[in-house]
Amino acid sequence: MSHQNLNILFIFLKLVSFSLSSLTASFPGGKQHCTQNNYCVTLTEGEISAETGLCVVLQCSFTTAADFKVESVIWFKCDPPERKCDKSDTPIFNSRTNENVEPDFRGRVSLLEPDLSHNNCSIIINDLKTSDSGLYQLRVGGTYKGKEDGFTFESKANVTVTGLSQKPTVMVPPLTEGQQTTLTCTAPGLCSGSDPKITWMWRGAGEKNSPITGNITTNQGQTSTLTFNPSAEHHGTNLTCKVRFKWAVITKETVTLNVTCEYRTYCTLLTKYSPSSMMMSSSFKFQNFSSEVKLLDRILKTVYLVLKF
Ligand SMILES: *[C@@H]1O[C@H](CO)[C@@H](O)[C@H](O)[C@H]1NC(C)=O
Ligand SMILES: *[C@@H]1O[C@H](CO)[C@@H](O)[C@H](O)[C@H]1NC(C)=O
Ligand SMILES: *[C@@H]1O[C@H](CO)[C@@H](O)[C@H](O)[C@H]1NC(C)=O
Ligand SMILES: *[C@@H]1O[C@H](CO)[C@@H](O)[C@H](O)[C@H]1NC(C)=O
Ligand SMILES: *[C@@H]1O[C@H](CO)[C@@H](O)[C@H](O)[C@H]1NC(C)=O
Ligand SMILES: *[C@@H]1O[C@H](CO)[C@@H](O)[C@H](O)[C@H]1NC(C)=O
Repeated sequence: MSHQNLNILFIFLKLVSFSLSSLTASFPGGKQHCTQNNYCVTLTEGEISAETGLCVVLQCSFTTAADFKVESVIWFKCDPPERKCDKSDTPIFNSRTNENVEPDFRGRVSLLEPDLSHNNCSIIINDLKTSDSGLYQLRVGGTYKGKEDGFTFESKANVTVTGLSQKPTVMVPPLTEGQQTTLTCTAPGLCSGSDPKITWMWRGAGEKNSPITGNITTNQGQTSTLTFNPSAEHHGTNLTCKVRFKWAVITKETVTLNVTCEYRTYCTLLTKYSPSSMMMSSSFKFQNFSSEVKLLDRILKTVYLVLKF
């Protein structure tokens, strides 16, 4: 091959690898903006919605002029929209240092890909609050032809944080009287900076919300399990799983327990006179509703067990 042919091949390969790298740098919903001097950034176009207590990922990739060596990725929260942030502003994140970063964001922001050579400037912001809504702008710091330099991209990511609407997921296996069972509650949102606090509340007929008596395993990250021994008394009662994120953001889910019991006749009676069915028919007017029902429960069970033998 002649020298010239080799050169052409070389240029061709360079072109291919360039288009490949710009392909891999894109993502669904991303739009690339470039300046004349080859500084490009790809950000999600349009509104990025997120919910309080959870997190948001700002997808981002960039390229710089060939002689620019990137040493840090810096993010600003930049309001009002017509303003362009610059290096004199206080960033919300700086990959190089935690100093001189907005205290409100310190520890809540991190890069998805810490290796800057991937040109991936995506960040995750955790423990969101409504005040995090706004426009976010990227700056890269480094050297240009050996001299310290930086570049602030003009495109902005538009984030809107609304109140938490997602609910926890409560998994209830079939419940049989006397058979120990484990229920699971999973907090919504796969990403959250700090682990949420998960509690279980049990509400029987005519009773105030009370913490459930059972074996609650220590919450592991996003889930909590509750192991307890279902009894006929639990039938028709409501169990609530409450998830508390940072900034007192709360979401909960309630399930009505359906306990099947071993003794058919007893169960029929129980279902007929269960707290929940009695709640509905006003013919029963107990002063102390739940304790009367519990007593009735126990009598019925004893009678049934005696009759059985
Ligand atoms: C950036 O890196 C993260 C984590 O490796 C990855 O999930 C994401 O897709 C990357 N984004 C781009 C635009 O390459
Ligand atoms: C950001 O999104 C909000 C909500 O959709 C919209 O009202 C606002 O105009 C957007 N701002 C910019 C600069 O696009
Ligand atoms: C359980 O929840 C259902 C639906 O929210 C409600 O109709 C019912 O009255 C509740 N039962 C008790 C015992 O609180
Ligand atoms: C809770 O579970 C642990 C481990 O399985 C067990 O040792 C303990 O006795 C249980 N406590 C109750 C009240 O069931
Ligand atoms: C409880 O389970 C029985 C049998 O599976 C079903 O017929 C009944 O509707 C269920 N009750 C409630 C409150 O879910
Ligand atoms: C209802 O019964 C419970 C349990 O027996 C008892 O602790 C409580 O004092 C009673 N309440 C009233 C208002 O009688």
